[in-house]
Amino acid sequence: MKLGTPKETFAGEARVALTPDSARQLQKLGYECAIESGAGQAAGFSDQSYTDAGVEVIEGADALWKAVDVVAKVREPDATELTYLEKGKTLISFFNPAGNEAGMEAAKESGANVIAMEMVPRISRAQKMDALSSMANIAGYRAVIEAGNNFGRFFTGQVTAAGKVPPAKVLIVGAGVAGLAAIGTSTSLGAITYAFDVRPEVAEQVESMGAEFVYLDFEEEQQDGAATGGYASVQSEEFRNAQLAKFREIAPDIDIVITTALIPNRPAPKLWLEDMVQAMKPGSVIIDLAAERGGNVEGTVKDEKIVTDNGVTIVGYTDFPSRMATQSSSLYATNIRHMMTDLTPEKDGQINHNMEDDVIRGATVTHEGAITFPPPPPKVAAIAAKPKEVVPELTPEEKRAQEVAAFKAQTKQQVTLLTIGAALLLGVGLIAPASFMQHFIVFVLSVFVGFQVIWNVSHSLHTPLMAVTNAISSIIILGALMQIGSGSWLVILLGALSVFMAGINIFGGFLVTRRMLAMFQKS
Ligand code: NAI
Repeated sequence: MKLGTPKETFAGEARVALTPDSARQLQKLGYECAIESGAGQAAGFSDQSYTDAGVEVIEGADALWKAVDVVAKVREPDATELTYLEKGKTLISFFNPAGNEAGMEAAKESGANVIAMEMVPRISRAQKMDALSSMANIAGYRAVIEAGNNFGRFFTGQVTAAGKVPPAKVLIVGAGVAGLAAIGTSTSLGAITYAFDVRPEVAEQVESMGAEFVYLDFEEEQQDGAATGGYASVQSEEFRNAQLAKFREIAPDIDIVITTALIPNRPAPKLWLEDMVQAMKPGSVIIDLAAERGGNVEGTVKDEKIVTDNGVTIVGYTDFPSRMATQSSSLYATNIRHMMTDLTPEKDGQINHNMEDDVIRGATVTHEGAITFPPPPPKVAAIAAKPKEVVPELTPEEKRAQEVAAFKAQTKQQVTLLTIGAALLLGVGLIAPASFMQHFIVFVLSVFVGFQVIWNVSHSLHTPLMAVTNAISSIIILGALMQIGSGSWLVILLGALSVFMAGINIFGGFLVTRRMLAMFQKS
């Protein structure tokens, strides 16, 4: 079969669904590839780069659509493109099935099979095809860059000869894919970053990325992620009020707000209201990533950048991924390539549209002349819900009793160990010469201290501990070298053994430290 990609027709769209790299992979699956001349230009892929990858370059959309069996594109097809659909063809692209009735009807009538990339279920196996996530990741990153572009100050705090600069304070509302990408970018630029989400389970992720989670003094019964397909559920009015009160409280202090809050198939919730915009300092910036669905911010104008009376810039662009077209095209093309891999189990260049496959079924919106949207819920839960552990609440007295019992048990264990050690020493002492005993006691005590030190230190602190044991190892080597000249073959053997083992510890520690440092090095 032949797979082809036309030039995007949507005004300003710079992405392309096929890159030279993805074409090479698709050819390995048995497909011939084609591209409309100029389709990759805006994303930085010339016709020549496609030709070099063995892709046929075809002049004109009309000819391309006719020549191929599978069409991969980015934006939902426009009215003309819909007329190219016909039985036996497969279209893979964003399709907006929920808001594109005419398109769905046309696809059904044509008999073509349509796979909508936004419908890929959010299950682990489908992550590599999850184009919504790969685009949201780019949007989150780009939102911070856009904010920086419109913000008149540094993100990071600085102390310079010319004065002290405070760090910028950034608030990210919604810690989904876009939000987490924005948090990562903002913290790496050095801003003090706060984040809020209605799903408290993301607090840990937020904090692990160096941001501070904004907690509300409010308890709400949460639905687990699996029940809602990995997405948030609608919150109660009381919760919303608590959330707004918190935002109102922090608004005067925040320099940059990036909103990404969304519940699927609903208009974006309004979370940053007019009075909060008014409370912000002049020069502050708001990036409303949810502008496409009405915006999280009061005053957002879709696809525009406005400056309010009090000097706050509100950006409502909806094309952030397209503004980083090379990056987003290569990620999107990889998502498409993985979808094709799923559709081609035999790697024979033939599509096997298996409607029993959860991912293919979920993403298919028309199949052999029938509308198959909305799909049934996936058989696999979106996010494995963690069963809630019921930990009984303890009174302070019970807690204290527990601590005392644990301490007693530990002491008992240590006393037993010491008694056994002392008995052994006594036994050996009765038969061994006094000079041997002197060294043996030091040896036994070292083993005891070493065991206690390592056993009682938390795993996360083993690396710094290694530095201390390296120092101990060097003392062992010194001691062994001093003893090695004593003449006894047993002492020479033990000395050599000690040098060897301490050497492993030192060189091994050195190698491990090097590997760890390499992980933190920016290439
Ligand atoms: P997502 O579903 O992964 O994340 C949305 C997050 O918002 C979830 O963590 C959810 O719990 C949270 N949320 C829902 N209601 C909330 C509330 N009331 N308060 C606080 N948090 C709330 O979605 P994803 O993929 O991260 O996309 C985020 C937004 O970015 C979407 O609106 C999407 O349309 C938009 N987007 C915009 C682009 C652009 O160019 N402007 C490009 C790509 C995505």
